[in-house]
Amino acid sequence: MSKYYLTTPIYYVNAAPHIGHTYTTIAADAIKRLKRMQGFEPVILTTGTDEHGQKIERAAAAAHKSPQKFTDLISNEFRQQWKTLDLQIDRFQRTTDPKHAKVVQDLFDRCVKSGYIYKSQYTGEYCVSCELYVTDAKPGDPCPDCGRPTETVTEENFYFKLSAFQERLLKFYEDNPEFIRPETRRNEVLAFVKQGLQDVSISRTTIKWGIPVANEAPHVFYVWFDALSTYMSAVDGEGLWPADLHLIGKEILRFHAVYWPAFLWAAGLPLPKRLFAHGWLLFENDKMSKSKGNMVRATPIKEALGADSLRYYLLREVVFGQDGNFSYDALVQRYNSDLANGLGNLASRTLALIHQNCKGQIPDGPGDPAIAQAAKIAVDSALDSYEWLNFSKALETIWGLISAIDKFIVERAPWNLAKSGDTAKLAETLYTAAEALRIVTALVFPVIPESAAKIWAQLGFRTPLDAIRMADLDWGKLASGQEIEPASGVFPRADVKTMIEKMKEGEAAELVRQQTLMGVAKAGDPPPPAAAGDSSHITIDDFIKVDLRVGEVKTASAVKGADKLLHLTVDIGEPQPRSIVAGIALAYKPEALVGRKVVIVANLAPRKLRGLESQGMIVAASLEGGNPVLASFLEDVPVGARLK
Ligand code: MSP
Repeated sequence: MSKYYLTTPIYYVNAAPHIGHTYTTIAADAIKRLKRMQGFEPVILTTGTDEHGQKIERAAAAAHKSPQKFTDLISNEFRQQWKTLDLQIDRFQRTTDPKHAKVVQDLFDRCVKSGYIYKSQYTGEYCVSCELYVTDAKPGDPCPDCGRPTETVTEENFYFKLSAFQERLLKFYEDNPEFIRPETRRNEVLAFVKQGLQDVSISRTTIKWGIPVANEAPHVFYVWFDALSTYMSAVDGEGLWPADLHLIGKEILRFHAVYWPAFLWAAGLPLPKRLFAHGWLLFENDKMSKSKGNMVRATPIKEALGADSLRYYLLREVVFGQDGNFSYDALVQRYNSDLANGLGNLASRTLALIHQNCKGQIPDGPGDPAIAQAAKIAVDSALDSYEWLNFSKALETIWGLISAIDKFIVERAPWNLAKSGDTAKLAETLYTAAEALRIVTALVFPVIPESAAKIWAQLGFRTPLDAIRMADLDWGKLASGQEIEPASGVFPRADVKTMIEKMKEGEAAELVRQQTLMGVAKAGDPPPPAAAGDSSHITIDDFIKVDLRVGEVKTASAVKGADKLLHLTVDIGEPQPRSIVAGIALAYKPEALVGRKVVIVANLAPRKLRGLESQGMIVAASLEGGNPVLASFLEDVPVGARLK
């Protein structure tokens, strides 16, 4: 059988892994498992980290680490994250790996040889965040992609003749209508290329942190020329290129659909077979971003509710290819309704009935023909949806089958058949339920592998589920007489409120852990490098990041079980007062605080203390060995006034 080679983007190490990265990598893992079940061999999944460029150099400096030390650390975070989630990564490629540098240089040499690279001078605006030149912009203009201010740079660069590929690209898209999926994204690329293409610079001389262009110091490769090559360097010499699928987020489609094919053509190398650009994951309908503090991480969700709950939610709730929403509440609701009540309930009920009525052995087949037919239709339809990476539709179909079997069991009422001694009908009913459960379990395996494998083992199978092929899903393949295992619940019901609290608490702790890792001040850290002037000074820009506000205490009460803490609500001129937990109980009686004006740090990331959310910090002089003294004003000041 033929190979299947798929990739995720390689992630920038200026941020630690969050649920956005996880979304892509989980989807890639699900596709990998699916392709194996479809019989591809070997199926190889590459991910990795994108470690060069100015953005990373600056993040390392902010963390007071050398770029190499910093990238080692964060790259390892990504590797660990995928391990924690049990994602089946075959190649983890770092762009700082010397093996990778050779492949990048080779790509460049091939393009030089074919005459598609030339040297020229550039003066213009550059967006450090997107690592992109912004043409037609004035100094300081916002980047059209991310809105951050651009910076003026002047440098001599190597240029790639992208303009030479416009016609060839358009013809290629036309001849290969499925090269870019979904269709809406393909149309965006077509429109972009039709406007005309400009040559792109593929080297930098103002940056040190990059792969040097051989014999061309001080040129280093432009990050995208470097990064895209990862897809090849990860499998260099293994005969796996071209990739069958590059899975990416929609914001990097242009690099993959326009630059990458042109680079490969110029180098005389084959093109990947397909690009699939998925949408953005939003947090409670808002764009996730570090500055908004609404980023979510996967580990706390896995610890609270299992990795499969997250996988299921992401692939069921969000239509793959479109933007979608993440919310803790919807996650737990989905878990309870679809996993605990749906699949979990079907599994435990079916297995329990077989234990009770058939001595724990699968009864004689072939089961009910109507359900057999419904299963066949569901299998065909789910496999078709999977083929188009329409996970949500595939899962909807599978859950439709689960409902049909539930209904069938209720209508047949096997408990009554047992009482009335109708053993033939009882056997038919339970074989039907077990065989349908087998098929459902195999079908959901790519999405919820850990739980599916548990149900599979409980059904008495010794062969691992990942050895099952889609061709094994024909009705009637479950052998009568197979001994099943004792049933144990795979998806215990979750109490929504407690579970959300648990995940949010875990998230707050994980955030602090990541921030410490990223170099956000930590006790014992070496002082920042002296190069930028006196390191004990901060700039005005640093100071104005702290949002200090005048607030008025509305309520104050003791915190149960914590003699140093008070729980306050403080009006800072917002529609709702802030809930703030402060360590001032030894210095102030709650009743003495009500009505008092205080100073609040209003943009501190919220955190939980003793189960109470603290949405800011109260400012006090902290006296060595003594009680804290609250900052206050001699003149009257209005609520909400900002301290500057
Ligand atoms: N390093 C480049 C990619 C080079 S590939 C040759 C890059 N890195 S990134 O760290 O910014 O990761 C971008 C990818 O992470 C997106 O394309 C997407 O796959 C994933 N996501 C990051 N945040 C996301 C969301 N909020 N929602 C969905 N996916 C997101 O760009």
